[in-house]
Amino acid sequence: MAITGVPMLGFFITVLLASLQELWAIKEDHVIIQAEFYMTPHPSDEFMFDFDGDEIFHVDDKKKETVWRLKEFGHFASFEAQGALANMAVGKTNLDIIIKRSNHTSNTNVPPEVTVLPNNPVELGEPNILICFIDKFSPPLINVTWLQNGKPVTNGLSETVFLPREDHLFRKFYYLPFLPSTEDVYDCKVEHWGLDEPLLKHWEFEAQTPLRETTENVMCGLGLVVGLVGIIVGTIFIIKGVRKGNAADHRGPL
Ligand SMILES: *[C@@H]1O[C@H](CO)[C@@H](O)[C@H](O)[C@H]1NC(C)=O
Ligand SMILES: *[C@@H]1O[C@H](CO)[C@@H](O)[C@H](O)[C@H]1NC(C)=O
Repeated sequence: MAITGVPMLGFFITVLLASLQELWAIKEDHVIIQAEFYMTPHPSDEFMFDFDGDEIFHVDDKKKETVWRLKEFGHFASFEAQGALANMAVGKTNLDIIIKRSNHTSNTNVPPEVTVLPNNPVELGEPNILICFIDKFSPPLINVTWLQNGKPVTNGLSETVFLPREDHLFRKFYYLPFLPSTEDVYDCKVEHWGLDEPLLKHWEFEAQTPLRETTENVMCGLGLVVGLVGIIVGTIFIIKGVRKGNAADHRGPL
């Protein structure tokens, strides 16, 4: 059961508000969402602010602190974590009410879509980051494991919080720093209640074959030739048309 947009109770520090208003004044097609969810009987919750689909910050309710998506954000704004915690308590009470009103109707499981892609163009021996993008799922409860040659990796991993979507499903990113090589293969293994079995998305280094470049060049050349032929044929037709028109004009007055 997910609830978003529970009214904010005014804990927002003016610095952030002022800077946001400035943004809105410049361009109005940006959207800021205060997203919260609460879950039971597997207790879990989240409180975060989303700017055009990116996280600004979330509140860690165990450490009771505001966690900025990028440290720099904390230099320009502040957010009182206690305020969010009070808000989350209200949200939890709301959830109890909604559960009763819905006659204990459970959330339906929507399985995720998973994509694995590198952060930068891949060069052998150049440090890079693999991104596992998990999208369009609910409830916000997943187990994700990175596998290198089939073995779980634990070093240097990071992840985002659950990010809201307009359709009330969720998105989440997982990151794996890695050194591209021709030997290593990677999988992002995702477990979710909407899936019958764990979903593995594979990634491995693929050398750009010269053949592909040749094919691209041939296609490009063909395109150019077709274009030129089109221009020539078009010009011939225009000239013919003009001549015919002239001929008709001469004949006209006779
Ligand atoms: C609520 O759920 C109970 C148990 O499933 C069922 O017997 C009852 O008819 C439901 N009531 C409504 C109003 O749907
Ligand atoms: C995640 O793993 C734990 C422990 O193996 C399991 O109990 C739980 O059901 C899993 N969650 C999902 C969403 O698959």
